[in-house]
Amino acid sequence: MKPGRLLVFLALQMLCLAAPLEIDAQGYKYDISQLVPPDPENPWVVTNGASSFYFSVYTDLQSSVFTRFCPDKLPAIAMGTLRGFCTKLGDSKSSIYAPIYTAGQAQPTGLNITYGNGEMCSAGYHNSFQLIVPCATSVGKPTIKITECRYAVEFPHPAGCFTAVPSGMSVGTVLLILLLVGFFLFISGGSVLKWRIKKMDMSIQVIPFIDFWKALPGLVWDGIKFSFFPPLCRPKPSQYQTMA
Ligand SMILES: *[C@@H]1O[C@H](CO)[C@@H](O)[C@H](O)[C@H]1NC(C)=O
Repeated sequence: MKPGRLLVFLALQMLCLAAPLEIDAQGYKYDISQLVPPDPENPWVVTNGASSFYFSVYTDLQSSVFTRFCPDKLPAIAMGTLRGFCTKLGDSKSSIYAPIYTAGQAQPTGLNITYGNGEMCSAGYHNSFQLIVPCATSVGKPTIKITECRYAVEFPHPAGCFTAVPSGMSVGTVLLILLLVGFFLFISGGSVLKWRIKKMDMSIQVIPFIDFWKALPGLVWDGIKFSFFPPLCRPKPSQYQTMA
């Protein structure tokens, strides 16, 4: 691999690995990457009597079990099963994130994720799946409460602790702006230096490292091809695949 290509590949990999799955709940930020089941074949499970409820977070259930036994109920973020029958509780197409507040506390104490779009439950109502994630220091055991068409799972988890409060500008945004300003100063300053000191003609060649910039789109494309085919990053919700 050419050094330039390797560099871009490594940069993309780092972005891919470091990227937290950050969501916004009314301005509060939460990193829900640890809430997504680590193994798509083994979603989170909670039982209630003879029924079992399987759920994923952010990405619909990927387990081949559901593709085999109830493909008509997919895509689903949560599925109830009772003696071989499946009930779709919701899917990732309709998700609402909201902070949870506790009386007497100024800041949120958890995260409330509601998934709609479940199958019809009773006249005019669709099932919905609510994931209540109280902020906890360690991962707890999920429990379920069922009220008519509403399935509410409480799952204490560190992902229920917000990572940033609402603010005008995040650290990332400020850094990005500084980086862009720095880059602009570097290009314009470098060009002026090359033009005045090296007495170069005023052409595109005065831009510092012009050959690298010209090659960059090709390098980035190579990096993307290496990084995403086969995909190393988390699949997006829309990339649901059925296994026939
Ligand atoms: C979670 O949000 C839903 C609406 O999306 C609401 O009906 C429910 O009461 C909320 N639960 C908690 C514990 O905040």
